[in-house]
Parts: sequence; structure tokens; C-alpha cells
Amino acid sequence: MRPVYLIGFMGAGKTTLGKRLATAMGLTFQDLDHLFEEKYKLNINSFFEKYGENLFRKFEYELIKSTYEMQDVVISTGGGTPCFFDSMQGMNQNGVTVYMQTTPAGLTSRLVNAKRQRPLLEGKSPEELILYVTEKLKEREKWYTQAHFKIDAINPDLPKLIGEIYSLISEK
Ligand code: S3P
Repeated sequence: MRPVYLIGFMGAGKTTLGKRLATAMGLTFQDLDHLFEEKYKLNINSFFEKYGENLFRKFEYELIKSTYEMQDVVISTGGGTPCFFDSMQGMNQNGVTVYMQTTPAGLTSRLVNAKRQRPLLEGKSPEELILYVTEKLKEREKWYTQAHFKIDAINPDLPKLIGEIYSLISEK
């Protein structure tokens, strides 16, 4: 079976849902940020600090392309992964894509409490964060909404999603 990609903004819950989905479907789980850190032996924050975002996007793109041939895997992507180069098109052509959708307020409340540091959010006050998330989400929805399926990030209906994924796969 082709890869299932979870896409969406930082804080949407891609890793948590990815693990649940993989378990429920009997697939393995991979997190793209984690693959990146393993491959480059550097955490994403340090990578951004040392080499900047442009190189991160380039390497992230190489990494997403290397997943196209994978089988039986659920992959949680980084929030920016679909929005650079032709990654969204690539994921759509080679796998099944699921957009985890929620509002800027829902994302912000999760991000304020998120323990993991994210380089793009560093140093932002809660007020700056909501403005940033609102703007950035609007910009990124152009890519996110190209996904095959959309799921409510706050209350995901897993059985329904699994049914949709199987029906798309059996169509092709
Ligand atoms: C990013 C999201 C992060 C990580 C990097 C950039 C983004 O992943 O890839 O910090 O551009 O939205 P998560 O969505 O898993 O936080």
C-alpha cells in the first residue's frame, strides 16, 4: 500500500494522529521531522540556526521525495512540507494525503502549551502567535486544501477516515 501522508499546520496533532492511524491500519509510522533529525544528526532548531530555512526546505524536499517509494507507512509531515517545491503534487501522486484542519485559535492554544520548540515560533508572545498563525495558515491553505481528504484535527473521526483511505486505494 502507498504511503498515507498527514499534513497540516504546526500543532494540528499530526504525530499523535499518525501513530493512532498507523496502529489502527496495521502500518508503520514515520515522522518526517524525526527522519530529518536522524539523517542530519541535528535537531531542527539547531539546523535552522546554523544553516537557515532555505537549506532546511531543500533537504526536507529531498527527504519527502525519498518516501514516495515507501510501502505500508503513515507519515506525519512538517507543517511547511507541502508548501515548497512540488511536494504537495508529489505526495498526491504517490500516496494518500490527509489534511488535519482546525482554526487559528485551536492551533494557537495547542502551540502555546507545546513543549517542543519550533524555530518559526521562537520568541513570539501569545498575541504575536495568534497573528502569525492566522496569516500563515491563510497562506498555506492553498496547499493544504489540495489533500485528498480533510479531517477535523480536534475531533478526528478515525473509522471514517480509514474507510475513505481504503476506498481511494481500491479505486486506483
Ligand atoms: C515547520 C514545522 C515543523 C518543522 C519545522 C518547520 C513549518 O514541523 O518541520 O519547524 O514550517 O511549519 P511540525 O509541523 O511537526 O511542528
